[in-house]
Amino acid sequence: MSAQHALLDVHLTDGDADRALRADAAAGLTAVPKSLPPKWFYDARGSALFEKITELPEYYPTRTEAALLTHSVDEIAAASGAETLVELGSGSSSKTRLLLDAFGRTGTLRRYVPQDVSESALRLAMDALALDYPDLELHGVVGDFTRHLDRLPRGGRRMVAFLGGTIGNLTRDERYAFLAQLREVLEPGEQLLLGTGLVVEESVMVPAYDDAAGVTAEFNRNVLHVLNRELGADFDVDSFAHRALWDAENSWIEMRLVAQRAMTVRLAELDLTVEFAEGEEMRTEISTKFRPDGVAEALEATGWAVAHTWTDPDARFALTLATAV
Ligand code: SAH
Ligand code: AVI
Repeated sequence: MSAQHALLDVHLTDGDADRALRADAAAGLTAVPKSLPPKWFYDARGSALFEKITELPEYYPTRTEAALLTHSVDEIAAASGAETLVELGSGSSSKTRLLLDAFGRTGTLRRYVPQDVSESALRLAMDALALDYPDLELHGVVGDFTRHLDRLPRGGRRMVAFLGGTIGNLTRDERYAFLAQLREVLEPGEQLLLGTGLVVEESVMVPAYDDAAGVTAEFNRNVLHVLNRELGADFDVDSFAHRALWDAENSWIEMRLVAQRAMTVRLAELDLTVEFAEGEEMRTEISTKFRPDGVAEALEATGWAVAHTWTDPDARFALTLATAV
C-alpha cells in the first residue's frame, strides 16, 4: 500500500468488537428462538467464503449488480460529480472498481473511503487498490455501519455506495434507522447509491442461498467457528445443518442453523451454557428482497429524494441513486 495515499482508521477496535460480539452472542443465544446477527460471519475465512459465494452459478445478485453497474456507471459518475466515494460494507471492493474507473473518466474523484467490519477484507482490498489506483487517496475505515456512521470522514462532495443488497440484511426498523442516520451525517445534495435485491421466483432466490457445492452452508456455519475461537465456545460445528427458506410474509430469505442432535454448548468466555434440542433452528441471517416501490418508500421516508433507478431485464436487482434532501 502506498504510504503517501493510504490511511486506515479503526473505529471498531479489537476490544470494542469483542464487547459487541459478547453482547450479541449472550442476547441471541438466550433468546427464544435463538438468533445471531449476520455481521459476525465476516472474519478472514467468512469474507473469503463470501467471495466464493459471489462466483457460484446459483448466486445471481453479484453478477446482476455488476452488469447493472457496467451499464450505468458513466451516467452515475457524470450525474454525481463526487470528490469522495464512501462505500459501506465494501468487502473486496471488486464491483467498486467499475465506479472508480467511471469517476476516473469524469475526473472529479479524489478519495475512496471503504468501510467494513472485516479488517482483513478491508486490508486486502486496499492493498490491491493502492497498486491499481496509485493516484487515488485511500482512507479505509474499520467500522460498523449500524454504529459508526457519524465518524465517517468529511470533506469533498461525497457519494456513499451501499452495494450488494447488504441493506437487506437489516430488519425493517434497522433499515429505516440506518437510512435516517446516514441522511443525518451527509450534507444536502450528497448522494447514496443503493443496491437492493428484488423479489423474484422462489425457485431462483432459494438456491442462491443453498448452493449445490455447499459453500453457503460453510459460510453459515462459519459464525460458529467465530464463537468457538473468540468466546472459547465448544460448538460441534458439523452437527449443525444449513437451511435457507423464503419467508413470503416478511419478504426475506432466512438462513438458519439446525441442530442435528440435542447438544449442550459451553461458552467459556461468557460463563454461559446453552442447550439445543434436536431439530432446533437458530436464525443467522435475513436477506430482504424488495419491490421497487418499497425501496423508494424507505428512502423518501428518511430524507432522500430518488434521482434514478436502474433494474436488470429480469428485474432481479435494482440500483437506486438518491440525493440527501
Ligand atoms: N459490498 C460487497 C460485499 C458484500 S458482503 C459486495 O457487494 O460484494 C457484506 C459486507 O459487509 C462484508 O464485507 C461484511 O464484512 C460487511 N459488513 C457486514 N455487516 C457490517 C456492519 N454492520 N458494518 C460494516 N460492515 C459490515
Ligand atoms: C452480504 N449480503 C448482501 C449477502 C446476501 O445475499 O444477503 C450475504 C449472503 N448470505 C448468504 N449468501 C450471501
